[in-house]
This record gives sequence, C-alpha cells and structure tokens, in this order.
Amino acid sequence: MADTAAKSSETYMFQYKGYNFTKNIVTPEYIDSLEDFEIRDSDVFLVTYLKSGTVWTQQIIILIHEEEGCNAAESQGSNAARSESYNATQSEGSNAAESEGSNAAESDTNMKRMPWLEYNLEGKDYNMRPSPRLFTSHLTYNLMPKMLKEKKAKVIYVARNPKDAMVSLFHFSKILTYMETAKNIGDLMEKYLSGQVARILILFLTVVAGSWFDHVRGWYSHREQLNFLFLTYEEMIKDLRGAVLKMCHFLGKRLQDSAIDRIVEKATFKNMKNNPKANYEFLPEKAILKDNGKFLRKGTVGDWKNTLTVAQSEHFDEVYRQRMKDLPLKFVWDLN
Ligand code: A3P
Repeated sequence: MADTAAKSSETYMFQYKGYNFTKNIVTPEYIDSLEDFEIRDSDVFLVTYLKSGTVWTQQIIILIHEEEGCNAAESQGSNAARSESYNATQSEGSNAAESEGSNAAESDTNMKRMPWLEYNLEGKDYNMRPSPRLFTSHLTYNLMPKMLKEKKAKVIYVARNPKDAMVSLFHFSKILTYMETAKNIGDLMEKYLSGQVARILILFLTVVAGSWFDHVRGWYSHREQLNFLFLTYEEMIKDLRGAVLKMCHFLGKRLQDSAIDRIVEKATFKNMKNNPKANYEFLPEKAILKDNGKFLRKGTVGDWKNTLTVAQSEHFDEVYRQRMKDLPLKFVWDLN
C-alpha cells in the first residue's frame, strides 16, 4: 500500500474533455468513438454519478429482464409489452445473436450482463450484443452517444444526496487499491465540491469523475429530449417495491405480483450483500482490498450526519444552493 500511496494519479490517468480516464484501458479515440456509437430503440441505460446506487439499480434492471424472460418463455407474446420487446430483439439483434450465440447468461456477473459503456473490459464489440442491450454508465450527458436523443432508448437516471454519495465514496476509497485518495473527509469535500474527484481503480474501472452538480444538471436538463426516468436513491430506500414498479412500467414490462416480490426480495440490502455477484466480490484482490470493506457498505440515508461537522455541512449546503439554484429540481433527501 505504501507503494501505491506514493504513486501519483497521473501515472495511471489522463484527462480528456475535462474528465479522468484510465490510461491502459481507455483511449481518447475510444471516448471519441462513443459519440457515434449506434444506439438501438431497445437499449436501456442506467446512468449515475459515483456511489449513487448504481450496483443496486443495475441488479434491479437485470432482475426485471430476467423475470420478463421467464414470463415470455411461459406464454410467448401474450401481452403487448412483451411482444414489442420480442420483436425488437428479433429485428435488431438477430444477426448479432447469431454471431454471439446468446445473450449474457444468468450465471454471468452483473458487470458482464450490464456492462459499463465507457469501459469495455472484455473488448467485445457492443454492436454485436443482442437486444435488448443493457448498459451502465457514469458518463456525463455531453460524452454520451449523439444518437441517444434520436432513438427511443431508455435512460434510468438515479441521483443520491451528494453528501451521502460523498461519504460513501470516502469509505469506498479505502477498499480501492489505486486511488488518489483523500486524507480525510474535509480534503475529499474540497475536491468533491470543485469537481476534482480523481480516482481510479486500475485495470478494472475507469471512472469519469467530474462534479456531481454538472452530472445531475447535464442529464436533468436534457430529460425532455430523452426517454428518461429520474429516480432517487432515497425514494428507492423509502419504497423499494414502488421504485421497482416504476422501473417496470418505464421499461414496458408487465410482471406478475409474484415476480415483483422476487425482484424486491433479491434487491434488498441484506440479500445483495450476501450475494457475491451483486456485491461485486468477483473483482480481484489487486483491485479491491477485501479486508477493508465491501461494495455494499451501509445502504442508508443520512449517513453524512455521522461524518460531516456542522461547519462542513453548512459549507456544502451553501455550494449546493449556488450551483443548483436555477435548476427546477427539488430533492427530498430526508425521509421524514
Ligand atoms: P453506502 O456506501 O452509503 O452504503 P454505487 O453502486 O453507485 O457505487 O453506490 C454504492 C452505494 O449504494 C453504497 O452506499 C451501497 O451500500 C449502496 N447500495 C448498494 N446496494 C444497495 C441496496 N440493495 N440497498 C441499499 N443501498 C445499496
């Protein structure tokens, strides 16, 4: 670790278009190529800023598609939503399916089943993935494929109280092997508020870390040009079933109550924590210091109150007010 700490992030990172990328797995050319990445109407994108409930929502979206697959196998084409998606699969993905064999298997990790758009770890051609393709992304709106607003592809955006997301990142930094890490929460907060969150998980993740404010603003202000569902981590905590139903509705999936129950059950914090696939335990030791913590840490709302001082919280609030004042978006972060 001492060796790791001594290394500067510049060794591993490059800045491109104002964001940080990992040198050995992403190139500026790849980032540029995403601009013209071909979007399909049936594509689904989960977009978040760091530590906002990405792996949680990823798990839910995968489960919804899994359950839908079971439904379709039981009674093919019996409802409009299912036949629509089946048709889309046939017309858009048939060549791809032929050449790739089949869609990601249930035994695959969530990362394989719903890979990050910006880091193609397996080096597979995403154009060859059968529909419906599920993608995860931390990208800001301006770095996303241009075709996104021309197609009916669905975008689920999950936002989280930035104070909690920041505290989550602070703890997460302890389990990342390579990261330009903060000495303390105050140090991280200054970087966080100015958008200088520079972090890297070498070999596996390239995290585009600009500012929370720009990320939410960029996506939210384009919501009307997109097929867009905006959710918050806090509403998912408050009413997980309600959030799952919203996602099903948005994705055009009509599932039976029993299927919804199964999804909710598999998406609880406790069950995901005990599920190595959902808890990202497949990441290797050289990337994650497993003794220092888990991907799923606490899963609560308001943990920032246990971490920030009153002065730090007030400073954060002031910056928040300044940066968000012209956005017609009112968050309800506190649950009661
Ligand atoms: P905490 O560190 O506050 O516990 P991301 O996936 O974007 O990196 O977000 C990680 C955060 O989401 C972590 O927050 C993690 O515990 C939380 N999380 C993951 N799965 C969850 C679940 N099923 N229920 C509640 N929170 C969950």
